[in-house]
Amino acid sequence: MNKEGEDSSKGIGIKKIAVKDSPAFGKRIGTKVVHAGEQVNPLTKGIVTSIDFSTTFAYERAQDWADVFYHGKPGYAYSRHGNPTRETFEKKIALLERGEAAIGFSSGMAAIATTFATYLCPGDEIVVTDRCYPGTRHLLNQYFKKWGFIPKFVDAREIENVQEAISKKTKLLHMECPTNPTLSLCDIEALGKLAKDFGIKFVFDNTFASPINQNPLVFGADIVIHSVTKYLGGHSDVLGGAVITSAEERAEIMNSAVYFGGVMSPFSAWLTIRGIKTLELRMQRHNENAQALAEFLEDHPKVREVFYPGLPSHPQHQLAKKQMRGFGGMVSFCVGKSDKDGGDFLNALQIIKRASSLGSVESLAQASGSMIYLEFSEEQKRALGINPGFVRLSTGIEDKADLIEDIDQALAKI
Ligand SMILES: Cc1ncc(COP(=O)(O)O)c(C=O)c1O
Repeated sequence: MNKEGEDSSKGIGIKKIAVKDSPAFGKRIGTKVVHAGEQVNPLTKGIVTSIDFSTTFAYERAQDWADVFYHGKPGYAYSRHGNPTRETFEKKIALLERGEAAIGFSSGMAAIATTFATYLCPGDEIVVTDRCYPGTRHLLNQYFKKWGFIPKFVDAREIENVQEAISKKTKLLHMECPTNPTLSLCDIEALGKLAKDFGIKFVFDNTFASPINQNPLVFGADIVIHSVTKYLGGHSDVLGGAVITSAEERAEIMNSAVYFGGVMSPFSAWLTIRGIKTLELRMQRHNENAQALAEFLEDHPKVREVFYPGLPSHPQHQLAKKQMRGFGGMVSFCVGKSDKDGGDFLNALQIIKRASSLGSVESLAQASGSMIYLEFSEEQKRALGINPGFVRLSTGIEDKADLIEDIDQALAKI
């Protein structure tokens, strides 16, 4: 216990501060990506946010240090608790996602694990979309189950399935969309209402959409998560994560982040701040390229199925139009007749790289049977809509004509 009688093991000096918007950040998202959270350096007048690598911070008087570390006075004491460069990133992403506050993490998984562990106790249930990122599924099944957190996976395309899975023990709802890899959607607004009615916290992984295309907090989510590694970083050179929420929830999650320890490094924060400055421009190009590729693929005789929320043939296209401002850079499709055809197609690509991850300036592709879902049985794959010859493409920002030609020549080889 400290002087104030607080349990000091809970959130030493964690402040509940909402990020302030400013006329200097602009009103529109294309301006905010450049300016939000940043300021001219008062000491040097430099316009670029500096990287502050200092892990510790010194004060004139011992009491000044203690005021910051223990009593929540503004300032920095130790970088795991707070760092100026990370804080700039946190302000920027909070404003872009329309939240009050944010936390930068060392990876998307650190953001997800820390958030779940903050709210779940042994015996509690978490209702999760069955099309969640496989790493999230693994975390829940392999680790959190051992700690007594009970995951219930549901097909969240239908709200009734989610409602049926909710019980008195449910503490969290964890959703994503567009989902990996078949780009299905869930109705964020309807889920937000459901979560509110049942008094459950609604967590939403917005990695695939980015804050340019979709803002789940506006539709009723309580906590948004990002793998910063993807569109926010945007250049395949930074691993990071983020949680965006209210000032109140931020303090709760930050209390765990400090002790789980997976916070974002100053260098990763700086790379992400730099990456975000072009986020709106990049997303426009990702959206445009993916739409053009999806339309080309849909008309190609060697392509059996195309998954893209921007296509009128997508079963949830109307919902996509309601909750998304752009349909994203991910396109999935099935080529030929078999996984061998998918593998041969992949190997014939010349510009598009055979690699995992997504959301970067360069186009990346993976195929089931040769690069992804090797651990899934055929039955499991079919249940998730992954049919033979399945390819997942993260469309980059290259010239779309080059991408179409690359895909066309690779399809000619199968
Ligand atoms: C939707 C989604 N969430 C979370 C993650 C995990 O992020 P990270 O790799 O940054 O830990 C990923 C990674 O691919 C992802 O696609």
